[in-house]
Amino acid sequence: MTFERAAAFAPINIALVKYWGKRDPVLNLPYASSLSVALAELGSLTVVAPSAELDANIMVVNDEPVDGAGLIKVGRVMRLIRQMAGNTEVRAGIRGVNTVPTAQGLASSASAFAALATAGCAAYGVDADETTLSRIARQGSGSASRSVHGGWVIWHKGERDDGLDSIGEQLHDADYWPLRALVAHVDIGRKKVSSTEGMQQSARTSPFFGAWVETCERDLRDCRWAIAQRDIDALANVVEANCLAMHSVMMATRPPLMYWQPATLAVIHAVRRLRAEGFECLFTIDAGPSVVVLTGQGSVERVAAEIGRIEGVARVTQTRIGGGAHLVPNG
Ligand code: PMV
Repeated sequence: MTFERAAAFAPINIALVKYWGKRDPVLNLPYASSLSVALAELGSLTVVAPSAELDANIMVVNDEPVDGAGLIKVGRVMRLIRQMAGNTEVRAGIRGVNTVPTAQGLASSASAFAALATAGCAAYGVDADETTLSRIARQGSGSASRSVHGGWVIWHKGERDDGLDSIGEQLHDADYWPLRALVAHVDIGRKKVSSTEGMQQSARTSPFFGAWVETCERDLRDCRWAIAQRDIDALANVVEANCLAMHSVMMATRPPLMYWQPATLAVIHAVRRLRAEGFECLFTIDAGPSVVVLTGQGSVERVAAEIGRIEGVARVTQTRIGGGAHLVPNG
């Protein structure tokens, strides 16, 4: 059997109903379902080059070698792909480029593993549909199960112990509701606690963890309703509340997980004020200090200008809701 180099791009996604807590930390099975949108242009381009000369996978991202926990996760995904390719022993050289800063709470691992699953399956001749790719990507990083798909995506938590039903599914494509996205970058270098470690600590020690899981079920229902109605006020209510609930769980974790910087809070207040003034906008924050703001098309310029002025916001990236993972010829 011959294998061929393949390249794929996958987008980052921003969760509107968050994933924070693994019921199975090896298979990355969550306690609750989550919902996200894919962001256009921001993401990962990954090239997988199988080679009979390698006795271990090697991976480089943005010219830096991947090792430790990161390489173990890559190994897990590549092993699955090799099994599906008939248990081949051929390892691969892998090169990734992220167009978002790595490990700053902007889901660069989601796009990286969705791109790895997509390029890896193509390189090893595995014919995988989106559901299968989502299941493979999930085993590198939970939120990667959502980055395989474009547009508005739900990750079903699933019920099974083997995770076969824990998969992403597209609810609507990128054109369904053309909101704009702004990323307000608040830089503090690499974050100290990885999301994997953080969520395990929260599940063990945060007194609010049980309530959080229940909240997510309700928020998912309300979020789906707001999206079905294309009602941005209803969406803002549920998305911001869910984000703040997750950060409350994080802050009540022992020792506390404090991802915010002063600029993070300043952006929150600016978005709330702008919405009260009639601009269509809402905020959400992952496991880091940067803030993602979704806006209506008519509000984007004003909201971008206001948050760009905030001290501690290094820059504001403007984008839209985008498509899912895809192969890139000659990438
Ligand atoms: O997939 P992970 O292990 O990078 O976890 C992602 C966790 C959050 O970004 C905070 C929330 C989410 O649902 O994306």
